[in-house]
Amino acid sequence: MTDKTKALMARGAAFLGSEHAILCGAMSWVSERNLVAAISNAGGFGVIACGAMTPELLDAEIAATAALTGKPFGVNLITMHPKLFELIEVCAKHKVTHVVLAGGLPPKGSLEAIKEIGAKVICFAPTLALGKKLLRSGADALVIEGHEAGGHIGPVSTSVLAQEILPELAADNIVFVAGGIGRGEAIASYLEMGASGVQLGTRFAAATESIAHPDFKKAFFRGHARDAMPSVQVDARLPVIPVRALKNKGTEEFTAKQREVAAKLDAGEVDMHEAQLLIERFWAGALRRAVIDGDVESGSLMAGQSVGMVTKEEPVADIITQLLDECGAALQGR
Ligand SMILES: Cc1cc2nc3c(=O)[nH]c(=O)nc-3n(C[C@H](O)[C@H](O)[C@H](O)COP(=O)(O)O)c2cc1C
Repeated sequence: MTDKTKALMARGAAFLGSEHAILCGAMSWVSERNLVAAISNAGGFGVIACGAMTPELLDAEIAATAALTGKPFGVNLITMHPKLFELIEVCAKHKVTHVVLAGGLPPKGSLEAIKEIGAKVICFAPTLALGKKLLRSGADALVIEGHEAGGHIGPVSTSVLAQEILPELAADNIVFVAGGIGRGEAIASYLEMGASGVQLGTRFAAATESIAHPDFKKAFFRGHARDAMPSVQVDARLPVIPVRALKNKGTEEFTAKQREVAAKLDAGEVDMHEAQLLIERFWAGALRRAVIDGDVESGSLMAGQSVGMVTKEEPVADIITQLLDECGAALQGR
């Protein structure tokens, strides 16, 4: 790592307690003990994806990850998880140092509960106004994640979010940039704009240490940016958070699922909250089928637009070295 990269990453690395300010964003089913420990052992910052895990499963996953690495790592909790507060207790038991809250605004009391256990809270800021609000509410750091990212996405591109948010917040706060980062040159530019570090998902999903099924990885090696498309909302009454994934038969099945859930909503069988939970459960199941079972036809191949830059299976350490080399070269002489 060059001195310039080190200097620009210093705040982020100190905040995370890692060597480099490069997070591997939590990816449900993918970000389990092996990938998380590999990222942290390579000097990055791994984050366990709790997703729909029960408190018991999270308990076991944190313990197993800690057995594989002595380096810091985080836990990503989804705000709409019905047992969010129990999951926070599990994090407390293991003295987890960083909790990432994903999937919407943190419910009342959750930020406080995490801070009470002595962990740092990282939140996603979809707009400048919400970023300011989250910081006022006690968030210790923000991630701004653009439309290019894999998985659940917002409507605004990373480059625009970075221009809107970094000049306002990055001087006095820790802000990580995510979405569409495939090479170190992009990392260099966000660091120069004031970001404390970056978060990547897609680049790491098919790494050697990832337990994803070989067919899931092959789909990544074959995929191009234009294949990683956002899901489409079919019913105006049922707002679903778009998900970016490689196009396949599962894309159509999601359309059918939305119609089914919308019909339930019409019939009064479920309310809006339940309807959204049904949609999220669909994604969790479909992603599991693709990642674990290798069903690349009807499973969900969540991937960001940077998937075109994932061409072969590589160890996490090599990916991180490559990103840092590219970042260092781009910053040289600037
Ligand atoms: C397969 C996959 C699953 C993901 N699952 C989650 C998740 O469970 N929770 C979350 O906060 N983000 C999730 N993400 C987003 C990543 O954490 C990360 O922010 C994103 O991948 C960064 O953008 P990039 O894919 O362009 O690198 C997922 C992304 C992918 C590709």
